Amino acid sequence: MAAAYAQFYKAILGDFLSSPTPAQAVLSASVLLGLGVIAYVAVYALLALAHALWPAKNLRKYGEWAVVTGATDGIGLAYAKQLAKRGISVVLISRSAERLATAEAEIKAKYPAVLTKTVAADFSSTDPALYTNIAKQIEGLDIGILVNNVGLSYPSALFFHELPSVDAALADNIIAVNVTATTRMTALVVPGMVKKGKGAIINISSAAGRIPAGNPLYAVYSASKAYVDYFSRSLHYELKPLGVHVQCQSPYFVTSKMSKIKRASLTVPDPNAFAAAAAKAIGCGASVVPFWTHCIEDSIIRSIPAAVSGPLLTRLHKGIRAAFFRKRAAGEKKEQ
Ligand SMILES: NC(=O)c1ccc[n+]([C@@H]2O[C@H](COP(=O)([O-])OP(=O)(O)OC[C@H]3O[C@@H](n4cnc5c(N)ncnc54)[C@H](OP(=O)(O)O)[C@@H]3O)[C@@H](O)[C@H]2O)c1
Repeated sequence: MAAAYAQFYKAILGDFLSSPTPAQAVLSASVLLGLGVIAYVAVYALLALAHALWPAKNLRKYGEWAVVTGATDGIGLAYAKQLAKRGISVVLISRSAERLATAEAEIKAKYPAVLTKTVAADFSSTDPALYTNIAKQIEGLDIGILVNNVGLSYPSALFFHELPSVDAALADNIIAVNVTATTRMTALVVPGMVKKGKGAIINISSAAGRIPAGNPLYAVYSASKAYVDYFSRSLHYELKPLGVHVQCQSPYFVTSKMSKIKRASLTVPDPNAFAAAAAKAIGCGASVVPFWTHCIEDSIIRSIPAAVSGPLLTRLHKGIRAAFFRKRAAGEKKEQ
């Protein structure tokens, strides 16, 4: 039997296995690499799908209240609704008192049993009283969950060296909103959570903070999101033994004001679909891509070497930058 098999393979492969030509060696290596990538993506796809079908967890076990930053729009508002749906009272934080009142009314109308509280705060502010004011407003609440969602990006793809000419404060504001707010809000709630031996901190990063090449022409945003990821990963292991689950959640594109994408699709969920998947992922792992098609995208993009994806992203973003300046010039012409 074995001899028959050996003969069969020899007929098909000839002397290839024992002495392949250079062309055959390159071809077989490519096929093996391709199969490896397909297997890797397939495993990710299965995990992502299993996760999407996973039953919802009881998030009330962490505590009575959740604090959500950047909660009047997009992912933040959708996240606050997901938590309210699970019977968790929510503190909504954003800049505008008016928009906070609208978001609060929306949540109250849909989930009348939950309590809500709003705090107007601008995370780009350099006022030293910013965090002491927030601390005062949330004092005494049994905070089980903090969602550090607030984020600021570029108005368009831009070279780092031209940022000051477009918005002199942009780089500082991005660091204040994406890095400092995440760190300081975490510092506000961690002592209480450690004391109770329970809590969950969800830090919203971005694909821009995970791609091996970074995100050319969005350098400050990308770096700020990588901070969020590694801050979360480190705290995850530091605080898990103390009962506090810290997790970074990274979206790829989601329809929102920030992404400027209006129509949802299979790979671009709306904030509600994203937040539903994200709420399910709470407590599962240190750094996750919660939406299932994003997870598949992530496995593909992260398997491409930076030397390949870097120049491709740069070219793509240069096109976005050019369109931005064209639109700006047309706007200026109209005004004249
Ligand atoms: N959408 C995407 O495709 C995408 C992809 C990757 C990562 N993300 C991340 O997901 C998070 C949410 O993004 P999003 O797309 O949902 O954004 P969004 O729709 O633009 O909403 C931003 C929210 O943050 C608030 N906000 C903005 N600046 C603030 C400030 N300085 N101080 C306090 N609140 C502020 C806004 O409310 P007010 O204007 O009322 O203050 C709003 O509630 C961000 O961290 C973002 O980086 C989004």
